[in-house]
Amino acid sequence: MRNTFMRFVLLFFLLNSIWIVSASSADNLPVIEPELAIVPYSVFQNVITSEQMNNMVDGNEEGLTLDLLNPDLSGKIYFSQYPFEAGDSGYDYTYYTDKIGSLSQGSGILPIFNLYRTKYDANDWLGRGISTATPTAAYRLKLFQAGKGYAGLYGSRVSFNYEDGAFRKMPTIVLGPYVTMVSSDDPESMVIVWETDEPSFGQVSFGSLVYKEEKGAITKHSVKISGLTPNAEYEYYVESVSPDGRKVTSNTYTTHTAPQKGQGPVTFAYGSDSYHGVGGGERAYMGVNAYILNQISANARRQGADFLIFGGDLVEGYSSDKENFAFQLRTWKQVMGGFWRTSPVYPGMGNHEFVWNYYEDDSVLAKWPYKTDSGEAVFASEFYNPTNGPAVSDSRRPTYQENVYHFQYGPVLVISFNNTYWASGFTDSVYETYGGNPLGYIMEDQLAWIEERLNTAENDPSVKFIFLFGHAPVFPYMSHIGDGMWYRGDNKMRPYTKNETSGKLEPEALGIVQVRDRFWKAIAQSAKVAAVLTSHEHGYHRTLISNTTPVGVFPDDDTDGDGKLDKYSPNPEFVNPTWHIMCGGGGSPYNAEGVEPTPWKPERTTSHYGYVLINAEDDKVSMEFVGGPVFEVLDRVDDLMAVKK
Ligand SMILES: [Fe+2]
Repeated sequence: MRNTFMRFVLLFFLLNSIWIVSASSADNLPVIEPELAIVPYSVFQNVITSEQMNNMVDGNEEGLTLDLLNPDLSGKIYFSQYPFEAGDSGYDYTYYTDKIGSLSQGSGILPIFNLYRTKYDANDWLGRGISTATPTAAYRLKLFQAGKGYAGLYGSRVSFNYEDGAFRKMPTIVLGPYVTMVSSDDPESMVIVWETDEPSFGQVSFGSLVYKEEKGAITKHSVKISGLTPNAEYEYYVESVSPDGRKVTSNTYTTHTAPQKGQGPVTFAYGSDSYHGVGGGERAYMGVNAYILNQISANARRQGADFLIFGGDLVEGYSSDKENFAFQLRTWKQVMGGFWRTSPVYPGMGNHEFVWNYYEDDSVLAKWPYKTDSGEAVFASEFYNPTNGPAVSDSRRPTYQENVYHFQYGPVLVISFNNTYWASGFTDSVYETYGGNPLGYIMEDQLAWIEERLNTAENDPSVKFIFLFGHAPVFPYMSHIGDGMWYRGDNKMRPYTKNETSGKLEPEALGIVQVRDRFWKAIAQSAKVAAVLTSHEHGYHRTLISNTTPVGVFPDDDTDGDGKLDKYSPNPEFVNPTWHIMCGGGGSPYNAEGVEPTPWKPERTTSHYGYVLINAEDDKVSMEFVGGPVFEVLDRVDDLMAVKK
């Protein structure tokens, strides 16, 4: 009897757990799962994982042993102190020596002893005179794969101890430290983050105080520093101790708290599109064009940028392998380290920040479960952005947390919007067949949030200037006239969502042109929006959008009623003239103008790489596009607000 009862109980729980499993996967999706084979596919696949790249073990009198755990790999090991001349430069960097290690059958010695020779001892490790930081070497691997040839450039860093003629590996800060959450929203605090290659107990020495991280032995560290003075300089360094007592200490850095709201002047940089460039070498560094991105962040530092915002397409992405995607985002963080150790970096998402299910018919849908495997989820777990974005109106969809957000810095309000959210794509009918969001579209929940943010800012006297930044251009001019927020005026473009009850796909009420118009109307009704910064096209253009710009109005300009605009009238609701500045020259393969005609025409266009530098001072806010090999000013607007008067 008892046995039968137990069997019944067991069966009950079993049936319930099966139901729970199926309900939490495909049944609860806002898209229809294709009955097609999923093809594992990444546009760019690193040949090693982050763990393999960092697999350093104690070595001998010459250095540490790196074991990539893959006998098919061979290559060269270049190395440098990290940072080179610690404490002597405002920007961390590497300066490789002519001593080079080699890898065969996946392993080799990183010959650090060379850096202890007087000729190369730039950090005074022999005398320990320059820095109290733990000796750390950055290494760069040029890898070749058996039977396949060149397999890319890889790089990380390792901390060590050299005693009694032998090198011993120490816990290593592989990423960071970075200063995050630095803004006027709370200018008395910031959060210092860093990552170690092994679990460790963290602490931050900040000014005259020590902040212990009470989270046990972990690898992703974050410590909130509070009670600071706004607009003040502080020195800090971080330490991490492994459970067996080995300690790593970072270099000492100077950082700066944000000013009080409304207080200026403020300088910041905007860049975008740094994914894997063509041309070889460092232009293709683990999914990132490190060659250009590093120049941009170094020049932004040189020009005194208080912070840097980045409009998406950070990395190649487009991967079915979430670890591969996370590895690329970590690469981006590594490249930005020189800037980020001192001043905050606020990235947004682009269409390349996409972890996908790739199907045999070339349809792609955002990978699920969204809470853990979507591009949005991985992005949020790798970055340190504000979590003040909108709530999703349909809890089945991915999060907006850390990809839609706002922060204020002095008199400047920055709003990150995401118009590459919950993406589907590649086949024309994918939205109508399986559901999802076309690139460029802003869904109702986010759109209403943007309108509300702009309204609030309009009535906030501490906000003088507003910048919105997002990925897809609102007014494309180069290679993305067929998408962006335009689709050549085809208002039929819109997302489809699976109805939870009927299981059928339902279109959004508004098409892409209507969404663009509602978005821009909200912007143009504000008297404070200095510019909308976008990217996705790999160059630069600047266009003034006003109530005389031919943009096309739906439905009036759809004269034959087929859902697509046939003429391009100005929109009388775009009352305040506002700049649309597209700057996607962060190192991705360049685009030229003139691919096909557009109703609007920019005042300035160029295909150089570069970034936008904004300076807000008193009642004026200037903009420069700084680019090309000597980072010259290629375009300038003395006062972005002058068009409103
Ligand atoms: Fe893009």
